[in-house]
Amino acid sequence: MTTAAPATPFNNDLPNYKAMPKLLVGQTALVTGANSGIGEAVAIGMARAGADVVVNYIVGETDMVIKAIEAEGRKGVAIKADVSNEAEVEAMFKQTIATFGTVDIVVANAGLQRDSALVDMTMAEWQKVLSVNLTGQFLCAREAAKEFLRRGVRKEVSVAAGKIICMSSVHEVIPWSGHVNYASSKGGIHMMMKTLAQELAPHRVRVNAIGPGAIRTPINTSAWDTAEAYAALMTLVPYKRIGEPEDIANVAVFLASDMADYINGVTIFADGGMTCYPGFSTGG
Ligand code: BGC
Repeated sequence: MTTAAPATPFNNDLPNYKAMPKLLVGQTALVTGANSGIGEAVAIGMARAGADVVVNYIVGETDMVIKAIEAEGRKGVAIKADVSNEAEVEAMFKQTIATFGTVDIVVANAGLQRDSALVDMTMAEWQKVLSVNLTGQFLCAREAAKEFLRRGVRKEVSVAAGKIICMSSVHEVIPWSGHVNYASSKGGIHMMMKTLAQELAPHRVRVNAIGPGAIRTPINTSAWDTAEAYAALMTLVPYKRIGEPEDIANVAVFLASDMADYINGVTIFADGGMTCYPGFSTGG
């Protein structure tokens, strides 16, 4: 007997994202690219879970996200820095430590797309995506690790000396025509994350990644902002709904917490099953 996929989504209800357990009280989280999309939701989620938050950004406003953090009763500080610039990342960590005393959680989230077919892709498009998405995470992970190793475990807030969370993508495993720079950066993040997890684990630093699928953010508006685009997108999502930024924030809070203390060196996909290759539900 074969089970046909339901013609309509069976359940588009969303979880109550505000019911966030207070898992991160007394900790400080630095989130890069935190004034829009997934980064913004992660920053607010960290505050909801009890952490003070550094909101890194490069362009645009930070008022909304800082207000949202304060509305959760936490401190929020915006720091402008280009994550692909070594001196700016170093200065950002200095300022973070000067402001909060230390940092416990770093979510290396900032990322962008510059899409082109291979034969049209310029060197600048290739470099820009690799610099921000991969080198940016390397620089933030390096500065985070320096502080975690210097400080060691703060038993009163966590059994780990620090947590690094890399924002990857389903495209760390799913090839993506027309996006070779982006897919390569995410494949690179995968191996960087695993290597750092191996290297830092003896210091009780955990390094993990999140692999979001299609999430409703400005990076992919054209994939969901018309009925036709949304329907086409749903052919790639077995769970039949687009992801919300808060779906990713939930995973980030979990990974940052001691609930995930034995999780190290893995990517948690939050993708509604996109990495289950739904094309094979009928073919193959
Ligand atoms: C990309 C989005 C895309 C999604 C699923 C993400 O990593 O940034 O543009 O919709 O992967 O393909």
